[in-house]
Amino acid sequence: MVRALIPGSFDPVTNGHLDIIERAAKIYDSVLVSVVRNYSKSPLFTIEERMELLQTVCAKWSNVSIGSFEGLLVQYACEQNVNVIVKGLRAVSDFEYEFQMAQMNRRLTNEIDTVFMMTGTEYAYLSSSIVKEIARLGGSVKGLVPEDVETHLRQKVQRQP
Ligand code: PNS
Repeated sequence: MVRALIPGSFDPVTNGHLDIIERAAKIYDSVLVSVVRNYSKSPLFTIEERMELLQTVCAKWSNVSIGSFEGLLVQYACEQNVNVIVKGLRAVSDFEYEFQMAQMNRRLTNEIDTVFMMTGTEYAYLSSSIVKEIARLGGSVKGLVPEDVETHLRQKVQRQP
């Protein structure tokens, strides 16, 4: 049984993330999608909100579960009996940082490998940050995030000063 971990900020989950989650769910026996806690970026959604949104939009895949972690990713991966970390690569610009993290994680534990999936070309330009900026400025994020996320995003930015 091969268990995969997809870590990230998911602030909020986008259709680009879902593309990777869906493809990983077809390859691996089980997929744990986990939201990082106490990460330096100042988030729009709380951890609980991000997890709830992930639960809702991933409910259709029976082998996908949602979690959260803090501290070292590889330590959490070992505790969760994960065999492989799955990351999405959008563009060459993602590569350097992801390469560094994968090398460092492998140095920390050689039990777990990082596998990269190329995001679908339709999501190559998509990121949670750009989605939040569009929403804040009143633009449409239709097709970029699931409908549930779109609704929550609209409510969230309306409440912001
Ligand atoms: O969605 P993001 O913000 O690109 O996710 C980044 C994440 C959570 C995958 C990365 O920051 C991470 O792995 N954080 C855990 C801390 C850690 O293990 N750091 C050492 C990495 S070499």
